[in-house]
Amino acid sequence: MAMQFVLLSLVILKFTSAFAATLNEAYGDSSCPLGTDIYQISCPEAEAIIFSMVEHAISQDSRMAASLLRLHFHDCFVNGCDASVLLDDTQDFVGEKTAGPNLNSLRGFEVIDAIKSELELICPHTVSCADILATAARDSVLLSGGPLWKVEMGRKDSFTASKNTANNNIPAPNSTVDMLVAKFENVGLTLQDMVALSGAHTIGIARCPTFTSRLQSSTISDNPFDNMEFIASLQQLCSAPDNSNIGTQLDLATPATFDNQYYVNLLSGEGLLLSDQALVNGNDETRQIVETYVQNPQFFFEDFKNSMLKMGSLGLAQSNGEIRRDCRTIN
Ligand code: HEM
Repeated sequence: MAMQFVLLSLVILKFTSAFAATLNEAYGDSSCPLGTDIYQISCPEAEAIIFSMVEHAISQDSRMAASLLRLHFHDCFVNGCDASVLLDDTQDFVGEKTAGPNLNSLRGFEVIDAIKSELELICPHTVSCADILATAARDSVLLSGGPLWKVEMGRKDSFTASKNTANNNIPAPNSTVDMLVAKFENVGLTLQDMVALSGAHTIGIARCPTFTSRLQSSTISDNPFDNMEFIASLQQLCSAPDNSNIGTQLDLATPATFDNQYYVNLLSGEGLLLSDQALVNGNDETRQIVETYVQNPQFFFEDFKNSMLKMGSLGLAQSNGEIRRDCRTIN
């Protein structure tokens, strides 16, 4: 038993240093924001454990990368990144899981639970659920071929959640560019952040009810970026009377690879959500950014990384919170 423990520790240590070396190589000499090393002493294996468990989850279900990335977004847009999205409803508590954008849609809770359980065994009451979410989102992007960044740590887990705020703050898929910009500015993010972060739709799936508005003929104008063949194929896909569980990839060309293909699709009229296609159909400023990302994928990666850091720091300064022992319930 003791030998097994030593072996396990060695494997973890080896993995930790290999992982740290990869991170150091990737970051170079760039100065790290305050808080990136806060678990270095209290839980040095935390990042390596999260990485390997996310990797395992994706190997079992390739869509999980997309689901974990989205979970972090839906957390951060509701009173900051404080793991409020993970709280379960109880008899006298209403969480965010039944809010319109989340119900029957958000996935990945079990993966976060498994990571939390493992971390509680190794360094109890140390790593917040909100930090796990932010790190799992980063790892999901990296494992799908996207950019790497160093996650700023130190988030606290909330004592509360807000279904109303989830309904109000999370943008709807039938939004115009003005509506999208308003939702992002509401939490302190810019139009540029909105276009860059929408690139997350380079992975994952959306269900028919979320793009019905895209299929209605009244919304299809004679726009150079409309693609009637694509619309017809979606109409066909969603033609069943109960299409609530039918879905398709947000990026049909490279569905599981984090790349700039999402923006390429927009220019050929193959954005799945109305809000995706609106980035080129509805606004010159957003279309120019899309064109830049098509011409230069590195600009997309750089902007995505920076906007994820901005989104991930929403509410980071809040001191009111705790380190939950179980991400689904306050201590
Ligand atoms: C710009 C406004 C946005 C709107 C209107 C929007 C809307 C949606 C909708 C409707 C879905 C499909 C949900 C379903 O069918 O159940 C979806 C999926 C997804 N969204 Fe967004 N989203 C936006 C921004 C973002 C951002 C900022 C991120 C992350 C940084 C993100 C990441 C994802 C991912 C990865 C998926 C696929 C999830 C999966 O397959 O499980 N989205 N989004």
